[in-house]
Amino acid sequence: TRALVLNGPNLSRLGVREPDVYGAASFDDLVSSVEKWCVDLGIEVDVRQTDDESELVGWLHEAVDTRTHVVLNPAAFTHYSYAMRDAAAQVTSAGLLLVEVHLTNPYAREAFRHTSVVGAVATGTVAGFGFDSYRLALTAVALRT
Ligand code: DQA
Repeated sequence: TRALVLNGPNLSRLGVREPDVYGAASFDDLVSSVEKWCVDLGIEVDVRQTDDESELVGWLHEAVDTRTHVVLNPAAFTHYSYAMRDAAAQVTSAGLLLVEVHLTNPYAREAFRHTSVVGAVATGTVAGFGFDSYRLALTAVALRT
């Protein structure tokens, strides 16, 4: 099984960014954890991060074209990017899994975070478990493939 783990804007700043909200661990720590879990789960993984909506849309197109499942933390794009939503819809429409993940629980935060424009086109969502949100999402991918 192959999976792309895609991360949106500001997630490269983990560890530096609002540590009270997102914790002290860095993006590199997240990548290491994901890579280790994927060895155990038998998933061939590529972990990426971008602040650029266009790049993220391109990666979702790539997932469709290469028939690769996706674990997606869209970060702030979650709440307003219809372009990303339309690209994510193509992934699930192609019969691939797309698991939306969040480190925090957006419903416990500001009102603008309560809306996800991708939620309705995702296979499912895992939120609120820190790095373990990714672990749970990848476990779901392993269970379903
Ligand atoms: C986030 C939640 C979003 O609301 C926020 O914009 C992020 C991170 C999370 O992982 O908890 O950048 O997606």
